[in-house]
Amino acid sequence: MKFDTPATSNPIDQLKVVGQPVSRIDGPLKTTGTAPYAYDRYDVVPNQAYGYVLGSAIAKGRIVSMNLAAAKASPGVITIVTAENAGKLAKGNLNTALLLGGPEIQHYHQAVAVVVAETFEQARAAAHLIHVNYARAKGLFDLTSEKPKGTPKDVFGAAGETSVGNFDKAFSAAPVRLDKTYSTAHESHSMLEPHATVAAWDGDQLTLWTSNQMIDWGVSDMALTLSIPKEKIRLISSYIGGGFGAKLFLRTDALMAALAARAARRPVKVALQRALVPNNTVHRSATIQRIKIGAARDGQITAIGHESWSGNLPGGGAEAGAVQTRALYAGANRMTSNRVATLDLPEANAMRAPNEAPGLAALEIAIDEMAEKLGMDPIEFRIKNDTQVVPDSPPKPASNDPQSEKPQDQEKHNPHPPFSIRQLTQCFQVGAERFGWNKRNTKPGLVRDGRWLVGMGVASAFRDNIVAKSAARVKLDKRGHVTVETDMTDIGTGSYTIIAQTAAEMMGVPLEKVTVRLGDSSFPVSAGSGGQWGGNSSTSGVYAACVKLREAVAQEAKTQLAKTQQADFNINDAIFADGQIRSGSHSISLGELAGSKGLVAEDTIEFGDLDKRYHQSTFGAHFVEVGVDAATGETRVRRMLAVCAAGRILNPKTARSQVIGAMTMGVGAALMESLEVDKRFGYFVNHDLAGYEVPVHADIPHQEVIFLDETDPISSPMKAKGVGELGICGAAAAVANAIYNATGVRVRDYPITLDKLIAKMPTRV
Ligand code: MOS
Repeated sequence: MKFDTPATSNPIDQLKVVGQPVSRIDGPLKTTGTAPYAYDRYDVVPNQAYGYVLGSAIAKGRIVSMNLAAAKASPGVITIVTAENAGKLAKGNLNTALLLGGPEIQHYHQAVAVVVAETFEQARAAAHLIHVNYARAKGLFDLTSEKPKGTPKDVFGAAGETSVGNFDKAFSAAPVRLDKTYSTAHESHSMLEPHATVAAWDGDQLTLWTSNQMIDWGVSDMALTLSIPKEKIRLISSYIGGGFGAKLFLRTDALMAALAARAARRPVKVALQRALVPNNTVHRSATIQRIKIGAARDGQITAIGHESWSGNLPGGGAEAGAVQTRALYAGANRMTSNRVATLDLPEANAMRAPNEAPGLAALEIAIDEMAEKLGMDPIEFRIKNDTQVVPDSPPKPASNDPQSEKPQDQEKHNPHPPFSIRQLTQCFQVGAERFGWNKRNTKPGLVRDGRWLVGMGVASAFRDNIVAKSAARVKLDKRGHVTVETDMTDIGTGSYTIIAQTAAEMMGVPLEKVTVRLGDSSFPVSAGSGGQWGGNSSTSGVYAACVKLREAVAQEAKTQLAKTQQADFNINDAIFADGQIRSGSHSISLGELAGSKGLVAEDTIEFGDLDKRYHQSTFGAHFVEVGVDAATGETRVRRMLAVCAAGRILNPKTARSQVIGAMTMGVGAALMESLEVDKRFGYFVNHDLAGYEVPVHADIPHQEVIFLDETDPISSPMKAKGVGELGICGAAAAVANAIYNATGVRVRDYPITLDKLIAKMPTRV
């Protein structure tokens, strides 16, 4: 199905099942510990051996020699794979560094060997007996010192640098100006389930039970890395214990398990030990962001500039902090740039809301500071600079990226496309009312509650809605039961549930009559889980397949009725409800029509150029109240509210869970999360959950989420949009702004730990 004109009314609009706050259908499996995660797949193939990955002890340089003798002689050891004996390996398209290093080393904890043994403990013990002789080279590890050499990078097919009007001139002419620099920390995804894979070869056929967000990307890059055809690889990822972007791409666990299983001639399971994850896999790069805003005295922005620097290995992409500044606020003169400095730290890559999460963390403090300079309420300032068209929409440079524009499309490119729908102002209005914003003291540092200094902050939430081609297969059996198959993944987000809701709505059956099978490369290729495109795109694929199945069912009904001379059955006005198809006075059960052979339909939703004619985004407003201990400078979040406008909400319960999870991650970024770099040796020091702090339940006392009633027919037949990443966008800045309101101390360097506040606290107890 081609989706190239806005959606009109369709069966989803009934909202009998879709739009209902259904609990996750996979919930009981999770809460009883019976959902099989990759490392639990002990039953899929017999005789599994254990692989243990050894990471490089240097960040850059070469392996001079490796002595494996003691490890090989260690009890239970079956084989050891290194770059020397692994055979020729290519680099996956979506990997920046090689997944198996040697002799060249590109980053600390890059895998240099996998030891295979009968037990995990034997493999681990033997790995520690490997002696590696390294020649260490000098590396670049400090973003601050490398920043001047940063070069502009395109991000997700969007230009690295943009310019509209004359920024410099307008900025210097502006009567009210702000020019400040902000920084965000290196961050680790820290999902609960570390990367893990069971690999088994059957002749030249490889099967991987793994934990991966994007099944087809995983298969493609494994095929490329091993130089074998895609058809020879089956990748299964039924349950995933969180990903946040860390599992978008093929990673070490999968490749090492495949190589180890080939060498050992038996299945091998590999889990990355927690302490290997932050340096071996991917992280979100730290950023340094300079923001300049000029405005007239009435608060109208006349110039807005945002420059962002991040770091990555050679060839790696940007954490593009400036992208949202092209679309969020009005202003005739603008400039943005996203630069990347070369660092020899581990590979930086996408983490939940890449670009916007750190970008808004900086921009939304700057907006708060500017409002204060203007003597305006920060909500009033944002509303004054709202815009219904995109002020700066650069053409996407032509490249191999499927999302980029062809040269002829670039000529037709509209530099100021309208938003499909934009309710940012409404989010603030609804939120201000609900949160009691009028009780905020505009003068900072004055509100006390016992030992706490109390303050409120706001920030905009903003994230683009991406749509991606997605296929599904639906089957109907003689019991009237519907089975959906697609390689879509559920990374803890609720994909199983919203896909079941979609199929139930389309086929007119109760939810219990739908089975959803996900995360298997033998199923049709879906959009996968990333960039908050998964929910809307994958359900649209299921919608398309169900439209086809409905046609097949209706055709079958007409054929059967024709045999009994009841030929007045009209396919076009057929209604699917209560497990039946109805037209006029006729109704037949779906099971009867499916018969013993069953009926099957498969289709793909393909998106036309609506996402180029309209800018599709999701919006929200964050409200946060904090207490800062007047004596210690320690911050406690007291309550949070997010008001979101993100198209039709397919399931308010799972969507709320996504938003509160993302808000929690925003609190982590604001107050605690930071991978600390050892600048001598080039690695992240706090590489486990003891040293890398994330918020726990006790840190998050009260959260509320309101979804504005919205449908977006430009986006998809579901009229939905992404929501999984919106909640983190702006959340950190709302915390920072609340801290400022509580204390009068403006911190521009995340995370806002007490050492950055304590010396400047207004009162001592
Ligand atoms: Mo997301 S960072 O694309 O999983």
